Amino acid sequence: MTVRLAPSILSADFGRLAEQVQEAVEHGADWIHVDVMDGHFVPNITIGPAVTHAVRAATDRTVDVHLMIEAPDRYLEAFVDAGADVVTVHLEACTHLHRTVQRIRELGARAGVAVNPATPVDHLRDIVADLDLLLVMSVNPGFGGQRYIEASTQRLARARALLDAEGRAGALLEVDGGIDEHTAGDAVAAGADVLVAGSAVYRHDAGLVEALRRLRAAAEAGLARRRGGKGAEGR
Ligand code: DX5
Ligand code: ZN
Repeated sequence: MTVRLAPSILSADFGRLAEQVQEAVEHGADWIHVDVMDGHFVPNITIGPAVTHAVRAATDRTVDVHLMIEAPDRYLEAFVDAGADVVTVHLEACTHLHRTVQRIRELGARAGVAVNPATPVDHLRDIVADLDLLLVMSVNPGFGGQRYIEASTQRLARARALLDAEGRAGALLEVDGGIDEHTAGDAVAAGADVLVAGSAVYRHDAGLVEALRRLRAAAEAGLARRRGGKGAEGR
């Protein structure tokens, strides 16, 4: 069991993006998370395949693309061509989710599905066998720097139970939104394997190196609690 740290470039300095990606990797990032927003599914517009390609060119680490867009099928190929290793779509944005997930895999990427805070994680039960990653949103998507929604810890525990019940030990559970040195431990104890963090990495008062060190320490403490069987107990 290991925890992967996935800094979100949404909070990085775009003027020196490659450098910011490399700094994060050098100081403990395992994946790089790319937040794609279309101004329709979420009330913000961010980046597309071109910037994803620039991230791909900056690192050989897993490029984790989170599509917060309507009708994502139209762009799957463009993001895989740009270098995405993992492509995650939102359950709430897909009418034919099974088809979308198969398509991501056909294109050669790992397939993830995200659920917003108000979507029961159990709605993924019939697709979980086809997933490489399940993403539990711990804020309402659209912006970096929001507060972790406390109920997310129980949702992570339920998502972990769902993956275990369906025999999906190899699939990863990711959490995204408001993850920092104070919230990471609970998320990992409840079952998270991949921690996305934007502002807590790129806008930490103590700087990026110290931010990643604290995040790693919190993740390790959470893992020790999970191993000790304490999980989401008491929350
Ligand atoms: C939220 C995005 C997140 C966000 C995380 O809409 O999907 O990845 O950038 O930012 P922080 O870590 O600042 O909450
Ligand atoms: Zn994200």
